[in-house]
Amino acid sequence: MTWDLPGSLELALRLGRGLDLAATLQIFGALLFTLLVARDLGTPDGDVQRAWTVRLLRFALALKLIALAVWLPAQAVSMTEALSLDAVWLVAAHTQFGQAVILRTVLLVVAAGLAVRCLGPARRPSPAPGSPLPALWSANLLAGGAVALQSLLGHSAAADDRLLVWLVSLHVLAAGAWLGGLLPLWHWLRTSSASTSQGPAQRAVSRFSWLGLAAVITLVLTAWWQAEGLIGGLGGWLGTPYGWLALLKTLGFGLLLGVAALNRLVFTPRLQRGDARALRLSIAWEAALGLLVIGLAVALASLQPAVHLQPQWPLPWQPDPDAWDKPWIGTEIERAAVIALIAVLGLASLVGRRTRLLFPVALVAIYLLPLPNWRDFVQPAHPGSFYRSETGYTAASIVRGQALTLQHCTQACANPQDNPADLDAYNIWQRSDGDLFDWLTRVFDTIGHSPFAHGTLASLDARQRWQLIDYFRARVSGNSVSRTQRWPYAVPPPALSIACKDETALDLRQLRGRFVYLLAVSPTVSGWRPPVVPDHPVVIVTLGDPGEPAAADGRAADCQATGTDAWQAMAIAGGRDPAALAGTGFVIDPQGWLRLQVLPDDAKPDAADWARELQSMATTPQPGRAPSAHAH
Ligand code: HEM
Repeated sequence: MTWDLPGSLELALRLGRGLDLAATLQIFGALLFTLLVARDLGTPDGDVQRAWTVRLLRFALALKLIALAVWLPAQAVSMTEALSLDAVWLVAAHTQFGQAVILRTVLLVVAAGLAVRCLGPARRPSPAPGSPLPALWSANLLAGGAVALQSLLGHSAAADDRLLVWLVSLHVLAAGAWLGGLLPLWHWLRTSSASTSQGPAQRAVSRFSWLGLAAVITLVLTAWWQAEGLIGGLGGWLGTPYGWLALLKTLGFGLLLGVAALNRLVFTPRLQRGDARALRLSIAWEAALGLLVIGLAVALASLQPAVHLQPQWPLPWQPDPDAWDKPWIGTEIERAAVIALIAVLGLASLVGRRTRLLFPVALVAIYLLPLPNWRDFVQPAHPGSFYRSETGYTAASIVRGQALTLQHCTQACANPQDNPADLDAYNIWQRSDGDLFDWLTRVFDTIGHSPFAHGTLASLDARQRWQLIDYFRARVSGNSVSRTQRWPYAVPPPALSIACKDETALDLRQLRGRFVYLLAVSPTVSGWRPPVVPDHPVVIVTLGDPGEPAAADGRAADCQATGTDAWQAMAIAGGRDPAALAGTGFVIDPQGWLRLQVLPDDAKPDAADWARELQSMATTPQPGRAPSAHAH
């Protein structure tokens, strides 16, 4: 997907996508309503409803074909910068987008055709032999398939998360079941309110609200995973246009839920008195709001996902992750909970005529009660606070950072007693990537005890600064282990590419969930390999000295680390001289943290000691912060 397209093309793409989606959801929703809600209500209104449904299906299908005529050429122009039949054919036949859109159109045409045939005059979809019911089921399955293809038309198609693709399909199916069923329900209430008995209307509404409830639960669960995959954390929500739009969509969802609750709790009971007007009006509003949410969904799918952007944090403060460790925070939480409870009760009191008087009482109570000190929950922030590392602490980045340090270092770097390239005193493993990136340029580069002349960091590009951050972090990791051969707080190993016999992993981080023993070997030093402990299986990864390719013999090794920088990076992160690294072992726990370093000359633990060692690591999580960290 390309960004910054000319306005008209952008508009055509969004219009095509929106119309296509709305028509598809409408066809699926109307068919599902007919199958699961209206099917055997067996009232004369049924014939009117079926005829109306046929007209709705025809209208939606026409809309769908118009959408195709807009979207496909627009996509061809945005992909090929040419508007020609060849370009349209190329996109339609040879791109995943084109194939999915064409397949969807075929599925919908067949589904609508089947449905029109089985909903035609005097045809009642009943289980009787030869009845159109199987055709109605097939039409629903085809339309469902057409809706599910949406995940091949959005960002999920490009993500390497297969589950995300399925969940977006489920998400959109739920959206279709709920929002696509609103118009048929509205029409059903319109026809049935004319008739004498309200029975069928109540049954249709109660059946639909169960369908709606299932759709809402599905939407919430799938939206959560999609948000994780495409928005990322808090920074993505508040620091990117994609996040803002998702917030707006969530608000729309909340409003829809509010209307649905009102329908269920206030307007549906009025049906018993034969009054369907309020419910019908509210359902019409719900459908309009639903269309708006679909519009937001389409806009969301047309924006760059938050996870691909560096979030620009808009507020001067951010949540303080350490707030919960403050001894007095319990009081503040209690105060906040009391205020929130009174506020909810106050609002709820507005529903009942007799309880409305409680609302002003709630307001006075909130005014008089002590408010929580919100400053205890936050810490200062700046636009880059939620930046994510662009280099990801890879071996290559650490080695590149080292080269940059050697290139720009002042004389001071030659002083091993006080090498300014050692940033141990600055908590750099406890700072977020964004805070560290900002601090390095805004503070350290101007006043800090920097290894470079002040202003050097500001002259480097973002990628170089991230490489320096990775190098400084690796150095701090090396310094912190060299004292006791144990890492005092949570530090990951550099991201190393690996090749495993069973081809299950390509990156060391993918071995999370298991103990890993990373062993540096050379032709002359094959190093100690730990005994097998059945309760705690260990994956052995050898790190060969690239100078002698035959070295890494791989015997008894499950995987081998590849890449020329791996050796150098592990030496820095392990606080070892590269020439003395051979034979050094690194124990990485199932959470992915470096825990223990086994030096070549160390006395090696026997099987019992080793088992105890792994057991204690498995049961004692690595602390997030060095006990005596110096806040700076
Ligand atoms: C009534 C509630 C909702 C409806 C009807 C709805 C509908 C949709 C639809 C139709 C799509 C596909 C859009 C497309 O590919 O063009 C979609 C995608 C998505 N929805 Fe929802 N949604 C709802 C609630 C939510 C909520 C509360 C969130 C939370 C953030 C959410 C997050 C997403 C995300 C992240 C995508 C993927 C968009 C992309 O491809 O980038 N949805 N939603």
